[in-house]
Amino acid sequence: MGKMNLALLVLCFSALFAAAAEASGIWDDFYVFNGPVNVKSPGPKVGKTVVLGLTNQTGATIASYSPYLFGRFSTKIKTVKGYSAGTVTSFHMASNRTNWSELDFEFLGNVTGQPYSLQTNVFVEGHGNREQRINLWFDPSAAYHEYAFLWNQKQVLFLVDNIAIRVFKNLKGNPFLDYQPMYVYGSEWDGESWATRGGLDKINWAYAPFEASFTAINTHNACKVTDPQNITQLDACYAQASISTYGQGVNLSLTRKQVHDLRWIRRKFLTYDYCEMVVKFAGKVLPECRQNWP
Ligand SMILES: *[C@@H]1O[C@H](CO)[C@@H](O)[C@H](O)[C@H]1NC(C)=O
Ligand SMILES: *[C@@H]1O[C@H](CO)[C@@H](O)[C@H](O)[C@H]1NC(C)=O
Ligand SMILES: *[C@@H]1O[C@H](CO)[C@@H](O)[C@H](O)[C@H]1NC(C)=O
Ligand SMILES: *[C@@H]1O[C@H](CO)[C@@H](O)[C@H](O)[C@H]1NC(C)=O
Ligand SMILES: *[C@@H]1O[C@H](CO)[C@@H](O)[C@H](O)[C@H]1NC(C)=O
Ligand SMILES: *[C@@H]1O[C@H](CO)[C@@H](O)[C@H](O)[C@H]1NC(C)=O
Repeated sequence: MGKMNLALLVLCFSALFAAAAEASGIWDDFYVFNGPVNVKSPGPKVGKTVVLGLTNQTGATIASYSPYLFGRFSTKIKTVKGYSAGTVTSFHMASNRTNWSELDFEFLGNVTGQPYSLQTNVFVEGHGNREQRINLWFDPSAAYHEYAFLWNQKQVLFLVDNIAIRVFKNLKGNPFLDYQPMYVYGSEWDGESWATRGGLDKINWAYAPFEASFTAINTHNACKVTDPQNITQLDACYAQASISTYGQGVNLSLTRKQVHDLRWIRRKFLTYDYCEMVVKFAGKVLPECRQNWP
């Protein structure tokens, strides 16, 4: 096939995917994983928005039916308003095997009037302990903002309204999130033992239910797998990545804008970085830590 034809084909496919994304609601791709009593799907856009709640009985989680290997995964979230100390609103991806992979956005609530923290984490081959925390430049409970993972063969980007806040690169000789398709989750849960000021501020149940709203969940620019153990399907996702927008060209490394974004985040908003703790306690820099901030 000529270069032009291939480009045209990719363009047509992209248009098709975009159309499908518009037409479908949450429940085509997701189901209630736990806490059905605290899952509300309100109007007017029935099926496009879901409210996940936390009460003294249970939290709530939705999960994707299928796992994915590479793609762009996004949702818009409005976190719990007012007193939210001890609560955690999360958008995350995880494989469910031994030595699993995981990517997390976790919004740590606070007492009334104090700012949320956004914690991110990466698990590779079952090992996490890669927390970073930032303050946000807006109040995430006041309006919807978009949170996205762009995951391909070369790197994972964490994006907030398309601003890069974190990168995890695929470095030679270091483990990476590959060959393990991940499910996508949204959830609202009780993290009072650690979330707010290290667990000092607890949940105040008088304010329950604590509710976060998720809308425009988009997993369509991605490679879906039906059987996570089937190597043929995983190989097909590698092949798809190399002809997709998410897995080629500018998306394989940081753009100039993303380098600028990350420097801005580190300078103005970073409040905790596991790499600094590693240096403090083990006295050596992990190879990945040299690459986390450009
Ligand atoms: C949980 O909350 C409900 C409603 O506020 C209250 O009636 C109930 O006593 C609480 N249960 C516990 C175990 O705290
Ligand atoms: C992983 O999820 C799939 C799909 O829900 C399920 O069939 C499988 O049993 C799960 N595996 C583990 C180890 O939980
Ligand atoms: C998990 O990873 C360890 C090394 O970190 C390896 O020894 C072990 O075989 C792996 N287990 C599975 C089931 O892949
Ligand atoms: C909550 O507010 C306090 C005081 O401003 C701040 O130190 C803390 O980082 C905030 N976030 C969390 C999750 O504790
Ligand atoms: C793996 O997936 C491919 C493509 O979906 C399918 O043709 C094949 O039968 C599957 N193999 C196994 C062992 O399930
Ligand atoms: C990847 O790069 C292209 C530009 O080549 C851009 O249009 C696209 O939005 C990027 N991101 C994804 C997730 O495809």
